[in-house]
Amino acid sequence: MSSRDRAAVLAQAARRRSFAVISHPDAGKSTLTEALALHANAIREAGRADGKAGGRRTVSDWMDMEQARGISITSAALQFTYRDAVINLVDTPGHADFSEDTYRVLSAVDAAVMLVDAAKGLEAQTMKLFAVCKHRGIALITVINKWDRPGKDALELMDEIQERTGLVPTPLTWPVGIGGDFRGVLDRRTGSYVRFTRTAGGTTIAPEEVMDADAALEREGDAWTTAAEESELLEASGADHDDETFRAGETTPVLFGSAVQNFGVHALLDVLVDVAPSPTPRPTVTDERRPVEAPFSAFVFKMQAGMDTAHRDRLAFARICSGVFERGMVVTSARTGRPFATKYAQQVFGRERTIVDEAYPGDVVGLVNAANLRVGDTLYLDQPVEYPPLPTFAPEHFAVMRAKDVSRYKQFQRGVTQLGAEGVVQVLRSDLRGDQAPVLAAVGPMQFEVAEHRMATEFNAPVTLDRLQYQIALRTTREWVADLNQQLGVEVLQREDGEFLALFPDRWRLSSVRTKLPDAVLQEDVVFG
Ligand code: G4P
Repeated sequence: MSSRDRAAVLAQAARRRSFAVISHPDAGKSTLTEALALHANAIREAGRADGKAGGRRTVSDWMDMEQARGISITSAALQFTYRDAVINLVDTPGHADFSEDTYRVLSAVDAAVMLVDAAKGLEAQTMKLFAVCKHRGIALITVINKWDRPGKDALELMDEIQERTGLVPTPLTWPVGIGGDFRGVLDRRTGSYVRFTRTAGGTTIAPEEVMDADAALEREGDAWTTAAEESELLEASGADHDDETFRAGETTPVLFGSAVQNFGVHALLDVLVDVAPSPTPRPTVTDERRPVEAPFSAFVFKMQAGMDTAHRDRLAFARICSGVFERGMVVTSARTGRPFATKYAQQVFGRERTIVDEAYPGDVVGLVNAANLRVGDTLYLDQPVEYPPLPTFAPEHFAVMRAKDVSRYKQFQRGVTQLGAEGVVQVLRSDLRGDQAPVLAAVGPMQFEVAEHRMATEFNAPVTLDRLQYQIALRTTREWVADLNQQLGVEVLQREDGEFLALFPDRWRLSSVRTKLPDAVLQEDVVFG
């Protein structure tokens, strides 16, 4: 690459902001996603035409099963420009439930938005996803949503964030009026007042009226005085935004808003552009960092099959780490050493697919015909590189899968192997159970439904699934298999990567086994939350 090309890649990378939204179901992630897209003019009207009960459709919902359930299982990336930046919103799947994919998406982003329901505070799934962000050192922006409804006190929420995450909240805006009586926000950087105006159903961009402090006091009276006093309190306690501590994962800028009313969304986009990090050199297996202007490299963080039943395609979602991606280029897969022709590459968001001709670090591309790629694979051009494997996460749900029709054994095996390779579920086996009855293990139970659905529709091998009462899986070694298998309620199975996993019904059983077999190797996989 010429130095001019390298400079061009650096400039493009510097424009990128790639982030994901982490939240508990119902905090408003879909609503916020639609609102962001609306603001970015990516979609003319937020997809709020139908109520949820009637099968609410947003652009991020697809696949018959998803639509039937009104949830979004799969992930995709929404790209849009805002000011001079190119924003990539990588969708974290899992509304009612989540899977390893939800975690893996976080390996593909440079920042995350933690969306908190003002009335509920930090909830279970938010905390689990937060733990992954912390582990990866991802910069975190916090959005307190649903301020239009009665909720917790704003200062109380700040205390909760600090206590439970260890991050110091540094509010950039502060609410004027309590939850349910949302008047607007004080912009702590400028001292001005941004007045909240309700819009019909939130389908249009909320007009934002900005006024100075004197005008705000005149208009809002005590509500303004309280907000200004609280803001000073925050300043005195050192809760002001600082770029360095934010990027180091020590502080989190906080914004208040109402996604459903499209209020605060504009501020969030500005914060993403102004303070969120752009792609930086990514560590490789040799602990060096590949500069973003080096030749093309990317890693696969998600495999997706069956997006288009007519075509039976397999899509690999890859995050670009360095260089420029050009459609048609032939890259190398670091795991197999084999070439992969990127004949078609797509940007996928919901039902929308756009052909990508060129992409840069921070972007996510969906590579079609990717049957030979796996989650975690590195792809590169010219200069070999390999990124570390994605962590595996401790499964918490287990089920035995059997073919309904034993004569379809071949199809059954093909399906099981494929689902395991894609990382949809982990596949565990033992001599005792035999190959006809593998145990599927998953982070979230919805993965079983995905597996069942795909076995029937894609592999033509309908299955039955019987849930097992285990909740904990720990890695052990071959020499402990016999001893552990003798323990009441404990079973050891082998995972496809060769690891032995000992399954336990609960913590109580685990600690009693630890007492009985104090020397047994029992290691936790990456467990979060
Ligand atoms: P999720 O993707 O995180 O699961 O949440 P989603 O956006 O589906 O939002 C969950 C519910 O919260 C929806 O209500 C949505 O309208 C509501 N909501 C989202 N943001 C706000 C907000 O800022 N203020 C208020 N008051 N509500 C908000 P629903 O009743 O489940 O569905 P719907 O019938 O409103 O679509």
